[in-house]
Amino acid sequence: METQLRRLLEAGIALTSELSLDAVLQKLVETAATLTGARYAALGVIDPAGQMLERFLTHGVDPEAHAAIGEPPRGRGILGVLIREATPLRLHDLTEDPRSVGFPPQHPPMKSFLGVPILLRGVAYGNLYLTEKEGGEDFTEEDEEVVTLLAAQAAVAIENARLYESATRWLRQLESLNEIGNALVSEIELPKLLALIARRLRELIGARVVSIALPTPEGDLKIEAADGEIAPELAGARLARTGSKHGRVLERRRTERVDSVIDDPEIDQEVARRASLVTGLYVPLLARDRALGVIALHDKAGPDPRFTDEDVRLAEAFAARAAVAVDLSERVVRDALRRVVAAQELERKRLARELHDETGQALTSILLELRSLEEAGSTEEARAAATQLRRLVTETLQDVRRLALELRPKALDDFGLVPAIERLAGAFSEQTGIRVDFETALPDERLPSEVETALYRIVQEALTNVAKHAQARHVSVTLSRKDTSVTAVIEDDGRGFEAAGTDGAGLGLVGMRERLGLLDGRLAIESTVGSGTTIVAEVPFR
Ligand SMILES: Nc1ncnc2c1ncn2[C@@H]1O[C@H](COP(=O)(O)OP(=O)(O)O)[C@@H](O)[C@H]1O
Ligand SMILES: [Mg+2]
Repeated sequence: METQLRRLLEAGIALTSELSLDAVLQKLVETAATLTGARYAALGVIDPAGQMLERFLTHGVDPEAHAAIGEPPRGRGILGVLIREATPLRLHDLTEDPRSVGFPPQHPPMKSFLGVPILLRGVAYGNLYLTEKEGGEDFTEEDEEVVTLLAAQAAVAIENARLYESATRWLRQLESLNEIGNALVSEIELPKLLALIARRLRELIGARVVSIALPTPEGDLKIEAADGEIAPELAGARLARTGSKHGRVLERRRTERVDSVIDDPEIDQEVARRASLVTGLYVPLLARDRALGVIALHDKAGPDPRFTDEDVRLAEAFAARAAVAVDLSERVVRDALRRVVAAQELERKRLARELHDETGQALTSILLELRSLEEAGSTEEARAAATQLRRLVTETLQDVRRLALELRPKALDDFGLVPAIERLAGAFSEQTGIRVDFETALPDERLPSEVETALYRIVQEALTNVAKHAQARHVSVTLSRKDTSVTAVIEDDGRGFEAAGTDGAGLGLVGMRERLGLLDGRLAIESTVGSGTTIVAEVPFR
């Protein structure tokens, strides 16, 4: 009994000094065998989900025999009894027990049996069992006590290891969130930030792939960052806003966990099959009640590919940070753009005024001088030269006025959108010979100045495009107003173009989008080759 106590004590010391759980458990198995005189001993650890054996350690079975037996037991038969009932069990002959399911072939013969559950505060972590006590004897009550003590130590060791594991996991989560928090204030490039968020989230949760999709100005969604196995194929991919899972999550603004991709009718099965996706977790990026994008995770690593509640919480924590990043960068971009646009308009106004007032005035007075020169001309040649010069100056004056008008018509500032577009349309017709119908249903009151400027510039660019590209005979410009928005429609009967392929093609259409984007407006381009183009620009205002 004294040596037994010493051994127990030693095992306890080993528990606190050994670092690896397997080494500790192996020592316990061996100690149990030695203390009870058992030929064979084994220890099985049930996984945290309580489903299967996570570890299985043995003593007394040599490696060749081990290999010959094959798979570790699955917890049926007597082992199942031990797991379910969680009380010690002593048997004279294992094989005679009616609950036994027998051994696999190649398994060494085993008769006497002592099994105890590994329990701590009512939680079963596994079991420790011994067979073949020396001399063909049965295991004693004393043996049972000793093994129960060892099992209690095993329980502590397993719990410690799991606590340590989850503590390290928590620490890593905190570190990552912290890192992203720091990046939020120091990193200004959104793509880099999103890439970091995708990478850290994937590492922490252990997913096969993580992607972040944001809405585009064109109205669909684009994957802006991806990390993991199929990341290269995903990066930059476009997703429909309506009809796609991403789009729906964005709209519903709620996290969705998908345990079986194949059973979710909202997921594009074609895409899912190609990427062999099994499970999914979709988290919207929410900032100030707006959904700014969607993070999607697929296929958790490990035996169970489904995402857990903890994964959901973690992904939502990351999504909140990503949302801040997106929100921030949108605001920075809009601010910068707004400043550029405003500065540009101001500069144009200054130039236009200068051209109109000063250059125009100067040319007008030259014209007057020329007239008197013509009249007072002494020779025929001198008069002819003066006439010629006057014609030239008149043309220049017209050019200057047109330029001033193009830069920024005074009418836009002085009289508002409708008179400005009337003039624009008139000048356009005159210069191009294309008929323009202008219809307006706007009330007389002035609109906010940035709305007027934006709509004026859009109509101007659309008309320029008609002249440059459309080969149209007729164009109509319509302004209308609903309760909370103004819409300009520019429709031509020209050759049309492939509107789908025009992202970033020319600066004109892009500029229209940008201006509207600043005002939360919307641009729709409808054009089919051969049957004309319709541009619809809608600007909300309060
Ligand atoms: N009204 C139109 N009719 C036919 N094609 C058009 C029209 N408007 C635009 N496009 C096509 O779309 C392209 C992009 O237009 P835009 O962005 O204004 O650039 P840019 O005018 O500088 O080429 C044009 O090059 C042209 O091919
Ligand atoms: Mg253009």
